[in-house]
Amino acid sequence: MRYLTFALAKGRLAKTTMAMFEKLGITCEAMKDKETRKLIFVNEDMKLKFFLAKASDVPTYVEYGAADVGVVGEDTILEEGRNIYEVMDLGFGKCRMCVCGPESAREMLRSGELIRVASKYPGIAKDYFYNKKFQTVEIIKLNGSVELAPIVGLSEVIVDIVETGSTLKANGLHVLEEICDLSARMVVNPVSLKMEQDRIRRLIADLKSLTRAGGNA
Ligand code: PRP
Repeated sequence: MRYLTFALAKGRLAKTTMAMFEKLGITCEAMKDKETRKLIFVNEDMKLKFFLAKASDVPTYVEYGAADVGVVGEDTILEEGRNIYEVMDLGFGKCRMCVCGPESAREMLRSGELIRVASKYPGIAKDYFYNKKFQTVEIIKLNGSVELAPIVGLSEVIVDIVETGSTLKANGLHVLEEICDLSARMVVNPVSLKMEQDRIRRLIADLKSLTRAGGNA
């Protein structure tokens, strides 16, 4: 039997995924060591490999078949636009993609003024403003702490993830428009889905039973 390889977005998504897998008897003890700097972990008995990757790289590993299966946020899947199959909503990591800014920007959005939009997700921002709202904007790509942009005058608004809303609140910003709901998704390489159909479909079925029973929290 060949190894089935999983690419997990490192951090909270990987931890929640492994907690879910553990409920199905899929374990990887070495991954629980908080001190470890290892990036790849093996369960020899089950012929499984898990590796931790930067979220935005997970769809790339899966598209090229370096991983058969990936777990990553819907935001990253939408932004990366890779040739992968999205097979399951894992039901955790729930948040929203929103246009945010100071209250004063609300009118600018409504009147369709040429505004600047800062985001870690230029693809999602472009699709929203150009294809859904038919509004011309200037998009500025940032890599983090995007809430800074409207505060220091880089942009009028941002397109970003809102989970609890506490980052916005702490910085005097508001949700001005909602783009979509997001959550953690399981993605699969199209060839792997054919070659390892039984193992992957069984895993999806088990995970679906677990989420139905509320075991994904
Ligand atoms: C994300 C996101 C927001 C924040 C939202 O940032 O980009 O800034 O979390 O969460 P909240 O609504 O619960 O406050 P992240 O922590 O990933 O850091 P980054 O902006 O530096 O990428």
